[in-house]
Amino acid sequence: MLITKVYKPSEVEKAADELKKGELIAFPTETVYGLGADATNEQAVKRVYLAKGRPSDNPLIVTVSSLEMVQKYVNDISEDAQKLIKRFWPGPLTLIFKIKPGSLSKAVTGGLETAAFRMPANRVTRELIDMAGVPLVGPSANSSGKPSPTTAAHVFHDLEGRIAGIVDDGPTSVGVESTILDMSVQPPTILRPGAVLGEEIEQFLAKEIIFDRHKVTAKETPKAPGMKYKHYAPAAQVLIVDAQDWQAAFEWAKRQTEDIGVMGLKSALPSALPANCIAYDLGTDIHTASQRLFAGLRYFDNEKRVNWILAAGFPEEGLGTAYMNRLKKSAGDQFFKKERLN
Ligand code: TXA
Ligand code: MG
Repeated sequence: MLITKVYKPSEVEKAADELKKGELIAFPTETVYGLGADATNEQAVKRVYLAKGRPSDNPLIVTVSSLEMVQKYVNDISEDAQKLIKRFWPGPLTLIFKIKPGSLSKAVTGGLETAAFRMPANRVTRELIDMAGVPLVGPSANSSGKPSPTTAAHVFHDLEGRIAGIVDDGPTSVGVESTILDMSVQPPTILRPGAVLGEEIEQFLAKEIIFDRHKVTAKETPKAPGMKYKHYAPAAQVLIVDAQDWQAAFEWAKRQTEDIGVMGLKSALPSALPANCIAYDLGTDIHTASQRLFAGLRYFDNEKRVNWILAAGFPEEGLGTAYMNRLKKSAGDQFFKKERLN
């Protein structure tokens, strides 16, 4: 077993030294914590899959600190892509480009002719990449299938003993992973919704893009992020509760003989919850709810073990699109229905 060190932002140079040696270091971003390894070191990249227990055909994001790092692997960055980079980087937008053949190992690309590139907003992490001198692969730093980590403690819980260290820069601010936009196809296609909104990209480029809701079957190589794999799943069964159904949901909860987890906005939860309900506060709006979603799911896995979680649904617009995308996966698409009362 490795000893997993926790580094303060001021100790980032030590963490960079570990990366140069081919070790794995988890890093903070504005979305979720990432699991970093030198993207040019195939052995190190392979260990990322092992540490996460991730299927090896699911490609990794290449995390960069400069545009030059992308240009090493990509010949043609279109005018639109350059505009997007100028406007949204550093930030929660991942762009997929066709790469120079053979410039990245199969371990990174999963054998695709494209790769995903992202420049995170977190300054410490960009320093880490600068110091390491190489781009880092950066999948979310959770065990594969579990909710993504939004604190260093979440990473520690999943990966202690499997990675050399974690750079701890506090809880992440966005809470859901980056928007993934495929620029290798026409029109550009969103493969995963995130905090940079599709509508925003469309308006900014003044052209139509595609919002891909296509589901990938088990036989295909996942074109879209993790689509064929189980995702964000806590041990409990999650039921999504639409705003108008809370009353019925509490009625149902009251009738259960076991504890029920409840994740909702402060304003949506009654001051007197049924006695067997354990609340996890999602804050005041869709922004705080997105920030806290994964932490809430983990709370009911690791601290208050329950078999059922009632979790607030939001309209699928704005950031609600990204939030619902993650919540639906964690719930296996199950909504609370009034019929449960019958
Ligand atoms: O916010 C984020 O993007 C976080 C932070 C840590 O940067 N990272 C992240 O990585 O969410 P990961 O590996 O958990 O999700 C990236 C997704 C994968 O599900 C993968 O299928 C998809 O991106 N992906 C990577 N390369 C791709 C490619 N060339 N074409 C299509 N999808 C790709
Ligand atoms: Mg992930």
